[in-house]
Amino acid sequence: MFRQKKLVFVILNTLLVTRVSNAINTRAFPDDFIFGAASSAYQVEGGWNADGKGESIWDYLSHKNKTFIWTGENADVACDTYNKWKQDILLLKDLGVNHYRFSISWPRVLPTGYADWLLINDINEPGIVYYRNLIKALKENNIEPVVTLQHFDLPQYLQDLGGWPNPNLVDYFADYARLAFREFGEDVKYWTTFNEPRQVCQYGYGSWVLAPAISTSGVGDYLCTRTVLLAHAKAYHIYDEEFRTQQNGVISMVIDATWEEPVSNRTEDVEAAERQLQFTFGLYGNPIYNGNWPRVVIDRVGFRSEHENFTKSRLPKFTHEEIEYIKGTYDYVGLNSYTTELVGDASEEEFGQPSYTKDVRIETSTDPSWNTTAYSWAIVPWGLRKLLKWVKDTYNNPKILVTENGCSDNGTLDDDMRIDYHRGYLSAVLDAIHEDEVDVFGYTAWSFLDSFEWIMGYSQPFGLYHVDFTDDDRPRTPKKSVGFYKKVIATHCLSDEECTK
Ligand code: BGC
Repeated sequence: MFRQKKLVFVILNTLLVTRVSNAINTRAFPDDFIFGAASSAYQVEGGWNADGKGESIWDYLSHKNKTFIWTGENADVACDTYNKWKQDILLLKDLGVNHYRFSISWPRVLPTGYADWLLINDINEPGIVYYRNLIKALKENNIEPVVTLQHFDLPQYLQDLGGWPNPNLVDYFADYARLAFREFGEDVKYWTTFNEPRQVCQYGYGSWVLAPAISTSGVGDYLCTRTVLLAHAKAYHIYDEEFRTQQNGVISMVIDATWEEPVSNRTEDVEAAERQLQFTFGLYGNPIYNGNWPRVVIDRVGFRSEHENFTKSRLPKFTHEEIEYIKGTYDYVGLNSYTTELVGDASEEEFGQPSYTKDVRIETSTDPSWNTTAYSWAIVPWGLRKLLKWVKDTYNNPKILVTENGCSDNGTLDDDMRIDYHRGYLSAVLDAIHEDEVDVFGYTAWSFLDSFEWIMGYSQPFGLYHVDFTDDDRPRTPKKSVGFYKKVIATHCLSDEECTK
């Protein structure tokens, strides 16, 4: 979500950057390839305190600190999906998607976050009914629900107890996950535990740009990551041991990454790009797919911590048992990716205040020739192809579901730029499948509807459908890209001619 918007350096070295063709691939998507669209609870639902829902960290901060959201808005009503879900399912059906990815609002089903706090006995029945109805209706319309348990909106009550750096959240999350599997699991075949926890840990506990906006870079962010990984693993094991045989689904984490292209082919820059991948995707991917933190992260944080006079590394250690407990807790890789940046090595910064960015030690820039989205993110389809290949090579060829990819527009219904964006990125997925033999089994457009874009409020519309946020009724209107995506889903082909198999 908060992808780096960096200064544009004029880079002679970009001439050295390996280019990959941007021609549209004319091969077909495999017959069993699934196409979907996505949303998240806080960004679309509204009903922030309806029917017993508890407060999330986003409700809390957007109400308390009027400057936290740059536009001064909030998501109290958002797309009003809490009331309009039936009409949204009709839109999804018309779009023809195979799956719809959405998230459960933890405080809507458990207002304080606790699942078994007997004194309060906190399950909010209307919240359970809401998601049960939504899931049932999706199934009736042949749309597979892809359900995320935690997409940024932690119950505020748990934040008051310290939020993700507090290791007790492992158990609270696990109890919540068990409740969700029990209540909804019969109809859910695809679960994801966390959406983009790196964004939460790095920008929510390492800076002020995401809730809970606690700036403890180089310490709180790593503590957050550790808890999240253990919470994810515990939820995975619960699913595996208590539910999988009856419910037969798959479960994983959604991890985000930008493709990090070395700014030159100097060894230092190539290593810097790999280091950045390991400090971003690898911080979550390595413990889950390979076991333990990435080596380069252990070394870098250990090295800097020592020079900062810490008695031990700021990167919390996993015990041998914890490493084994987390390793292998995935059935597929959920990958969110939007853009690409250029990466070069940077010089070691002075030792002093702990800092994640100093730990990574890189310089990022962009190629001035790259087109950008309304959010100023570079549009580089070949970056996704390279990222998919990197995931394949680094993590032993896993099955991959692209769980988010898309762009914001400047408010137009004639969103030709979105069509070009998706066509380019989908073509890169085809290249990855057919040329690089990456096992990608699905693609999910972000987003289904224009929605609340976190600190940017409603100023960055990512939707295939426009939503009029000035109208109390929140009318939805298909953008031009709906026609394009519909056709791709129906034909499994990007080209105007017939595609080859
Ligand atoms: C997040 C979404 C967000 C999107 C665009 C992703 O990081 O999962 O919630 O809206 O990026 O910024």
